Amino acid sequence: MNRKMIVNGLLAGCLCVFAAAPAWAFDNATADRVLQTAQQKLRATSSDPTIPTNQYPKATTNGPWRLVPNTANFDWVQGFFPGQLWLMYEQGRDPYWRTKADAWTRNLEIQKSNTDLRQITHDLGFKFMTSFGQAYRLTGDDYYRQVMLTAATSLARRYNPTVGVIDCCDWNDGTWHVPMVVDTMMNLELLFWGARNGGNAAWNDMALSHARKTASDMVRADGGTFHVVDYSTSGAILSRKTYQGYSDSSTWARGHAWAIYGFTMAYRYTRDPGMLQAAQKVTDYYLARVPADYIPNWDFNAPPDQQQKDSSAAAIVASALQELSRYVTDPTVAQRYRNAALATLDTLASPAYLGSATTGPGILLHGVAFYRNAINPRGEDIDKSLIYGDYYLVEAVSRFKLWNQDGWLSTLGFPESVRSLGTGNTGVRIVEFDVTPLSYPIDGVIGYADTSTNVTAYSSLAMAIRMNPSGSFDVRRGAAYAALANVPYQANATYHVRMRTDLNAKTYSVWVRPPGGTEVLIADRFAFRSDAPATDDLGKVSLKSGHFDNEFRVRNHTVRAETTAAPSTRLRTGRSAPAQRP
Ligand code: GLY
Repeated sequence: MNRKMIVNGLLAGCLCVFAAAPAWAFDNATADRVLQTAQQKLRATSSDPTIPTNQYPKATTNGPWRLVPNTANFDWVQGFFPGQLWLMYEQGRDPYWRTKADAWTRNLEIQKSNTDLRQITHDLGFKFMTSFGQAYRLTGDDYYRQVMLTAATSLARRYNPTVGVIDCCDWNDGTWHVPMVVDTMMNLELLFWGARNGGNAAWNDMALSHARKTASDMVRADGGTFHVVDYSTSGAILSRKTYQGYSDSSTWARGHAWAIYGFTMAYRYTRDPGMLQAAQKVTDYYLARVPADYIPNWDFNAPPDQQQKDSSAAAIVASALQELSRYVTDPTVAQRYRNAALATLDTLASPAYLGSATTGPGILLHGVAFYRNAINPRGEDIDKSLIYGDYYLVEAVSRFKLWNQDGWLSTLGFPESVRSLGTGNTGVRIVEFDVTPLSYPIDGVIGYADTSTNVTAYSSLAMAIRMNPSGSFDVRRGAAYAALANVPYQANATYHVRMRTDLNAKTYSVWVRPPGGTEVLIADRFAFRSDAPATDDLGKVSLKSGHFDNEFRVRNHTVRAETTAAPSTRLRTGRSAPAQRP
């Protein structure tokens, strides 16, 4: 019996012996082994004196990387190398990785804008979310955010409002009119993210429109995907084609992987039910056809004499399905998606695919960039290590480590940041929890609202404890944030928080205990937020990220009635509050 059969057994909901045995072997130790291999390979590449920081790895067999320069506007891969360096920095915060990642990131800035629309690529999302996006997530340096917003402005120029899609390209010598390719699903993140981080709010609607057109016009009834849909300037579908796939009616595996990942990502930002539906539809197509080792052929419909597995597609799916499994409400389906992701990682971490025993610089073996077809009879980078295969493998393993732990993670959006605390928390209540920032600095809020409050904004939260962008804890008092003492926070350190709230007096006090330290009072009977709805019970807690999902983790959250007197409160030196939240 292979893993896939076991997974299918679980899908059928059978409460038999299969349910007891996990359908995968992938675990923390294996994740660490993969990351160790990644670290070795990335250290070698990033310290190779023959690779300047304006040249970017793209593909390799067992020799040196083939490189592309930072000036190559129409290449799409430059973000993946700095992106992996940032993921290495995230693991242990070794300054080596930050210095290297920053150098390769900054040299991509020149692609953020172009005065000639024909010189702007739809692939700006690939290039900027992986590099500048990770940089901003992990450092909070506003320089990176500003560059991303300029890049998003450029990408938005490719949006065709009549058709409602991002026109992918002008390099097709008139054969296509207003072409949409499945790959663009990945580029939408720059618009979704930018709209929520200081950019034009309309970018969100452009990206959602494009994603909806992809779902309606590019996904077939059976869940397979076309690679290209070409529209007339008035929005009529002229043709459905392939560029990198086997045929116009086939499903190209990596394109399909972009659809799985892209619809899942679009759901993360929008919570649009159509995005979740589309993500599941393309996923179910994929899982019904992927071979038992979970590595697809480069095209699901290629004939027997054109069989060549594409590990890059598998890595993309392994990352995406871990996320999708968190959004699906049916636990059987969620488990099936997670099982498939981890079974895929089992294969990718095996000696057949992981380059741990090779001397070459690639982490993941056996990817296919462009298999031979009528458009490209010679093909390109067949059976190679591809920088994007490496990136999504490292991302998938990092996600495994993030999500394979207990506790609650913060989210960028309301209301999915909210956890219910029940209806009985009235009068005086003591709340305690441990909070771990996962990057630094962050803008993270742990806020509380009445059971009856529909939490849609910060102003919904009567009480709010924040890890602010200046690097300290503070607490909402009436109309602003304040702290009676400065308690700084760091990434990956765990702080114990105690809150005493008096729901009759509408005041609350907050103590923070840093690791190995003693409790510090940072709020003494602060008034509830002045513009919050009436709050008579402690019915909801919101774990709200300021810039990205997963900025912090909360564990051991408890609420109880006060049974003992509150500790005496000795006030510490006051200070003014940094940057205010709305
Ligand atoms: N252009 C994206 C890909 O080749 O998958």
